[in-house]
Amino acid sequence: MSRPTVVIGNWKMNMKIKETIDFITELSPMLSKTQGKVCLSVPSTLLKVASEAARGSEIEIGAQDVSQYESGAYTGEISTTMIQDSGGEFSLIGHSERRMYYHEDDEMIKEKVTRAILGGLVPVLCVGETQEQKESGQTEKVLLDQLEKALGFLNENEASAVIIAYEPVWAIGTGHAATPEIAQEVHGVIRGFVRKKWGEKNAFRTPILYGGSVSPDTIKELIKMPDIDGALVGGASLKVEAFAKIVNISRETKS
Ligand code: 13P
Repeated sequence: MSRPTVVIGNWKMNMKIKETIDFITELSPMLSKTQGKVCLSVPSTLLKVASEAARGSEIEIGAQDVSQYESGAYTGEISTTMIQDSGGEFSLIGHSERRMYYHEDDEMIKEKVTRAILGGLVPVLCVGETQEQKESGQTEKVLLDQLEKALGFLNENEASAVIIAYEPVWAIGTGHAATPEIAQEVHGVIRGFVRKKWGEKNAFRTPILYGGSVSPDTIKELIKMPDIDGALVGGASLKVEAFAKIVNISRETKS
């Protein structure tokens, strides 16, 4: 038995209300009936409208970031409860754009993971090395460090709620995805981390997604790899046909 695929579209700072409704209405009938999860990670202004448009369909809606605090005087932030109140079921945490442009550090990312888990929101932890780190042979060290700091404190049950996305910074938005072989090698390291910390059961069921220039052309070879369970898709998730293709190719290749 293999793990069901998980494909998440990360819309980043794009899309408006009408486009959201149209996208979700069009996407739903395009999806193949094969088993697998399909999710959209939308700007917070669209959480409610997206979850209403997705009601009754298999599409799950989530956020792109979540506060590490429960509530209070944190101008501009949104909490786990607010995301859920708007119909969100998960949140990306530690995306490289948050790490780079908003200086999120490992401690903050750990607090966000904790808060999400306490509140019953699925954390999608993003990890990945920069071009420089890759070139100096530090990929494995950087990833294990990011994983340990963000997740190392979880118990087996808490860890079973987590989705992990490997997004090499050098592949994001460049049009050059990692080769399937490179991505598989890193996914194997990530699954090895999960196995060592929480055992075989968690290692088997934790979805590990690849992100970075995923397109209808690159997905097929990536998803064939044994430890690649799905994708976190940026640019190509803004076009409904391309996104549906990525979801369907993933499902059909893995099934
Ligand atoms: P692209 O698919 O546009 O490279 O973005 C990847 C990403 O950052 C998804 O979170």
